[in-house]
Amino acid sequence: MALLQVNNLTKSFGGNVAVNQVNFHLEPGKITALIGPNGAGKTTVFNLISGVLKPTGGEVFFKGRKITGLKCNQIAAMGLTRTFQNLQLFGNMTVLENVMVGEHTRSKTGLLGAALRLPGTKQEERLVRQRAVEHLKVVGLEKRGEEPAENLAFGQQRLLEIARALAADPEVLLLDEPAAGLNAGETRELVGLLRRLKAAGKTILLVEHDMDTVMGVADKVVVLDFGAKIAEGTPAEVQANERVIKAYLGDDEDGE
Ligand SMILES: Nc1ncnc2c1ncn2[C@@H]1O[C@H](COP(=O)(O)OP(=O)(O)OP(=O)(O)O)[C@@H](O)[C@H]1O
Ligand SMILES: [Mg+2]
Repeated sequence: MALLQVNNLTKSFGGNVAVNQVNFHLEPGKITALIGPNGAGKTTVFNLISGVLKPTGGEVFFKGRKITGLKCNQIAAMGLTRTFQNLQLFGNMTVLENVMVGEHTRSKTGLLGAALRLPGTKQEERLVRQRAVEHLKVVGLEKRGEEPAENLAFGQQRLLEIARALAADPEVLLLDEPAAGLNAGETRELVGLLRRLKAAGKTILLVEHDMDTVMGVADKVVVLDFGAKIAEGTPAEVQANERVIKAYLGDDEDGE
């Protein structure tokens, strides 16, 4: 059975159908890329899956359970975490603290308990900190833990956002354009990280514009255009697909 199943997912904003009857599924332990021109509906699909938006129609099943209608935190607690196209870090908190925030979505006492210093939270806090250091190691930022997050270069902030998402120990990770704004070297590092996460058993849905990156990591590609799925297959298959080529050529004028 698919780990995540998206059935006829639809979202309209007024008269604008941003996501139109989209179907696809995620295989456990695989990387699926979700691609398409600007405004194709990729981020809206993420918002619908992760519970940020309610669909106009259709359903999402995670581990066999219907999650459409559940709140973000309920879906996160089941093991599905996402990152954002626009970074959502706490710039004045340290790098380590940003990862700890991610951990608190699953810890017993939670963020509030920690803030109030309730009894029994001290030891848990220590464990949360230890685990956060481990997550920073995964993305190669363990030496920067005590610095304010805003000190990090942009590419490193993207890695930090992934570390924070990992801190919730998700089975499924949704990454919305993690390579946006990265230089060639940083993109290579990101690709390496994605491969390591896959090797560690994570299931990943990746929004990515750069075809080389997609070709390098994706097992399967789903292509959206004007809200609808126009193709699905291996990276090589979609790259050779006439409809996909046409959709991307039509998008040429803004240079992406
Ligand atoms: N909250 C919203 N209210 C109204 N319209 C929205 C909202 N969010 C997205 N849209 C519209 O839905 C469509 C799809 O947008 P979406 O952000 O999902 O595209 P995208 O594929 O992620 O694009 P990009 O590659 O630029 O990030 C666009 O026409 C957009 O203007
Ligand atoms: Mg988007």
